[in-house]
Amino acid sequence: MITPNMNYANLKDSYLFYNISQKVSAYQKAHPGVHICRLGIGDVSLPLCDEVIKALHEAADDQSKKESFHGYMPECGAPFLKTAVADYYRARGIDLTDDEVFISSGASDELGDILDLFDRSSSALVIEPAYPAYVDANIIAGREIIHLDSGEENGFLPEPVEKAKADIIYICSPNNPTGAVFPREKLQKWVDFANENGSVILFDAAYEAFIEDNALPHSIFELPGAKTCAIEICSLSKTAGFTGTRLGYTVIPKTLERKGMSLSGMWVRNRTTKTNGVSYIIQKGGAAVFTPEGQRQIKENIAFYKENAKIIMAALDELGIWYTGGKNAPYIWLKCPNNMGSWEFFDFLLEKAQIVGTPGEGFGACGEGYFRFSTFGSREDTEKAAQLLVELLK
Ligand code: MLT
Repeated sequence: MITPNMNYANLKDSYLFYNISQKVSAYQKAHPGVHICRLGIGDVSLPLCDEVIKALHEAADDQSKKESFHGYMPECGAPFLKTAVADYYRARGIDLTDDEVFISSGASDELGDILDLFDRSSSALVIEPAYPAYVDANIIAGREIIHLDSGEENGFLPEPVEKAKADIIYICSPNNPTGAVFPREKLQKWVDFANENGSVILFDAAYEAFIEDNALPHSIFELPGAKTCAIEICSLSKTAGFTGTRLGYTVIPKTLERKGMSLSGMWVRNRTTKTNGVSYIIQKGGAAVFTPEGQRQIKENIAFYKENAKIIMAALDELGIWYTGGKNAPYIWLKCPNNMGSWEFFDFLLEKAQIVGTPGEGFGACGEGYFRFSTFGSREDTEKAAQLLVELLK
């Protein structure tokens, strides 16, 4: 009899966000007609901006004519989009060649797929609390996982320590779930550490567009030495509302080599084998994000979410609840009031106020006692949730 991948037996019963959506559906079924304020999963509530919609329509029309029709796309991305992404980096002083940019169907897909580059005997460091897919993807691959806790004492931004000597190092900045952002000097320590130990950093930059403090790095490639130790994975999901449209990009510098193998060369080999590229229409929509007008429009949407953040933060301030994040990131990370556990607070909010957030424990054991609000909800849900929180907890 065939042996399935037995590593699946080591996973928790269900994935965090699936688990939450099941609980919320059960509640809704038991309370039909009751409105639930959804500040749980980081799914956007604003539609795609006009510039993107226009490009999507034009691209759909292209597909209707013989002379502009596109079949299979280049596996690593359409040249027009790779150039647009490389130019976006260049505007921040990072020089990339177009073939160091890979177009993907989104960061979450890519964060799992990219593990194909590494031997299964390699170890993975996850700084917790962390996006749960890092851990789950490595459990499925049967890798050794090293958990490094972070906490209020280090602003959820730990420094490298002996225990952190892993082959793969995940860094998410701005961080999901805590909203913490690595300042240059602290991130430099991780870059130096990875170069010294021959590790590779998987830098999840999905929330870079939310950084408002100019001193903070948007990309790990702003730091000296990163091009010999890092892969950056980014997404248009949160930046431009592509959660349902699916599009992302990955940067693998040509100078990133391990044991004589070029990781970008390996990734070309992988993509050309395992994918047929992202659809022409979606890539055209993505390219519109990088035009001056596209950038102006997506920044308006980001400003809307930042206003949501202010509404939630004002409620927490009024209640005297400790929190962090919300400024350079779209998540607010708070301490559960009255010493509640994070799932206990989840149930309490759902039952008493019909508010959905994300329990901190879902991001790792050290997230216990904390809770995450997403600022991607609708304005109505955000305002209502803020008001109900104050009424419930004052
Ligand atoms: C989250 O809520 O943490 C994210 O939206 C999940 C994701 O990006 O897949």
